[in-house]
Amino acid sequence: MNPKGCLIFCLALLVSTTSLADAENDVKLPKPSFTGKMSVETSMTKKKSVRHFAADPLTLEQVSQLLWAANGVLPVDAISGATIKTIPSAGGIYPLEIFLLTGDKSVKGLPAGVFHYNTMNNSLLMISSGDARMALAQAALSQIWMASAPVTIVIAGAFGKSTAKYGQRGIQYTFMESGAANQNLYLQAEAIGLRVGTVGAFDENSVSSAIKMPAGITPLLLVPVGK
Ligand SMILES: Cc1cc2nc3c(=O)[nH]c(=O)nc-3n(C[C@H](O)[C@H](O)[C@H](O)COP(=O)(O)O)c2cc1C
Repeated sequence: MNPKGCLIFCLALLVSTTSLADAENDVKLPKPSFTGKMSVETSMTKKKSVRHFAADPLTLEQVSQLLWAANGVLPVDAISGATIKTIPSAGGIYPLEIFLLTGDKSVKGLPAGVFHYNTMNNSLLMISSGDARMALAQAALSQIWMASAPVTIVIAGAFGKSTAKYGQRGIQYTFMESGAANQNLYLQAEAIGLRVGTVGAFDENSVSSAIKMPAGITPLLLVPVGK
């Protein structure tokens, strides 16, 4: 990328990231639990991708636990002061962004909409209102089963954050990191009695427009969750 292109891209990324930080309108989530009842081995044994879900609504506690597992912050390292998350990240850059799609009454305490997960604040910012789950399923090559899940978590990447340091390799790092977030979702969901599916077959532009994805952020994996 030439210097002018790089400047435009960096400004676009800054604007998009800034528009995702709005502490005043954030829905604060319950504090996630750092301990659980199921061992990681049991969770790995039970892990399975599912493609149909009960209509039962999720609770805010469950949503908080899932989002924290996907990209949550741990207590800051007392010695280095570095941010630490539930997933590894090349160079500690953390290029992933997580979005949540809800339907009408599909999460107790949340309206239908698309939300961005503010990892540092453990909160949600609504970026658009209304149920976008069917539009998302259609954008995923009409995998309509997805729309039956009470929520879908979208793992997305701000490639520019990683490529700014690592060049083209940063794109691969961002994809790799999305796998870590995805696996955490499988294990966390099992541990709290939920199931997930994974959808990587989708049209990127249609997904971005279905959920009004901010500029500079690319959808990587779609993860429907329910019982
Ligand atoms: C990167 C990736 C993309 C996937 N895309 C889809 C998809 O578009 N639709 C789908 O039904 N399953 C998808 N899956 C789920 C796989 O089909 C599933 O993990 C595989 O069949 C193994 O089954 P299991 O997860 O239950 O062990 C995807 C999984 C991964 C890791």
